[in-house]
Amino acid sequence: MNAHFRAREHLRPDAVLHDVHAALLADVHPVIRLLRLLERHVPSIARVATEQAAAHVVRHRSVDLLVEAALNDGFGQIVVVGAGYDSRAWRLPGAELATWYEVDRPEMAAIKVAKLGAARLDVDRVRRVPASVHTPAWLVDLERAGWNRHEPSCFVVEGLLHYLDQGRAEALLDELWAGPAPRRVLLSFIEPAMSRRVTPLYRELTRSFGEIPRTFFERETLGAKAAAAGRAWRSWDYPSQIQEFAPGALGRSAGLSQLVGEAR
Ligand SMILES: C[S@@+](CC[C@H](N)C(=O)[O-])C[C@H]1O[C@@H](n2cnc3c(N)ncnc32)[C@H](O)[C@@H]1O
Repeated sequence: MNAHFRAREHLRPDAVLHDVHAALLADVHPVIRLLRLLERHVPSIARVATEQAAAHVVRHRSVDLLVEAALNDGFGQIVVVGAGYDSRAWRLPGAELATWYEVDRPEMAAIKVAKLGAARLDVDRVRRVPASVHTPAWLVDLERAGWNRHEPSCFVVEGLLHYLDQGRAEALLDELWAGPAPRRVLLSFIEPAMSRRVTPLYRELTRSFGEIPRTFFERETLGAKAAAAGRAWRSWDYPSQIQEFAPGALGRSAGLSQLVGEAR
């Protein structure tokens, strides 16, 4: 669904994010076709769809800019964990300066390779790591793909933590921010209070995409964990995310999104 949101945003005259590849990567799923139809005829569904799309593109644009900053700061390895249809390796300015790795479940990795081929995008632009982060073994697969733990790395963990149980999410963060070389870890996360605030319609529509987010991290808890690992932490609440990264989306958002944080 995220690629649909980005494809739609790309066409807006006031777009806060341009992703020229999103339309080619997006899935054609019966639920998405049905929602498109309902949106045209049911104002309440159209409103929620607009809010969900705005929430996604604000988050994605926020992370775009943090990845661009890491590229500018000379991070030569970018590891996108739970990459889905992320297209940053093909579209961010300066992307060619880094070696990119995309980690995702094997079945999703195979679908993406097929889609990149159909979209005539260079499949070799990223090193693919078909692995689940459910166990620490994914790091072994990452190293087999060429990643060097002794070189600076920026990890992008967007839209992933809420698929994991809390113990595994915490262990994953420890794996990411413990390391000998400079590291930057970019995260999106949903605070429990935020998921309690959504309307029943918003919740049902989100579920219809197969998403049942698990929420357990508060920004303060994450900050304390990062600090315990010796990392400086910064996070943005949603209004400040919009103000700083995507002011154009101000009027379109219901004030709900995953928050963005950075440990370095
Ligand atoms: C909501 S999508 C987010 C995609 C992309 N990062 C974005 O923000 O648009 C979640 C992605 O995480 C992947 N994922 C879920 N559980 C995973 C796991 N245990 N190991 C690796 N990837 C996983 C899914 O296959 C999917 O591609």
